Amino acid sequence: MSRLSYVGLVMLGVVLFDGALVQADRQPAKTPATAQSDAERGRAVFNGKGVCYYCHGVDGNKDQQPQLAADTAALIAQLNPPPTDLRNRTALRLTTDKARAKVIREGHPGTGMFPDTTMTSQELRDTLAYLALLRSESSAKRK
Ligand code: HEC
Repeated sequence: MSRLSYVGLVMLGVVLFDGALVQADRQPAKTPATAQSDAERGRAVFNGKGVCYYCHGVDGNKDQQPQLAADTAALIAQLNPPPTDLRNRTALRLTTDKARAKVIREGHPGTGMFPDTTMTSQELRDTLAYLALLRSESSAKRK
């Protein structure tokens, strides 16, 4: 990886980490844990403090990119390999939640993807439940 793209990725990490902090500040701690399914809570993490939606699209829809600062969007557009379409089962390489938890905690292998250190274990479990929901919706849609 060239030095320039390394610097770019580090900057992206900083931008996204800042975003996560802002999001975390904004999240009111009001949702009672029992009121929603785990996948629903995971969806909030995905589209919120986890900043997964920055790269994977809102609700995991790759064609629904959020409004981002132009330089952040440009850095994400340059990612190689590009962010996976989490709703397309045939595009997925990981087969276990253990492996998924690892890429979320330790970063995505082969990319400059920074590790998430802000999620609680509960939030990680909820996110995994949400990813499973995305996969099941994917198969439901396929002919
Ligand atoms: C900076 C952009 C970026 C962000 C933010 C991001 N991802 Fe990813 N993600 C990627 C890229 C790029 C890949 C593809 C890695 C590869 O092909 O090896 C990927 C791959 C994955 C995979 C592996 C899919 C598979 O089975 O092959 C999972 C699961 C995943 N991301 C979940 C998440 C979750 C959950 C979050 C939020 C906590 C998240 N990602 C945040 C860029 C991102």
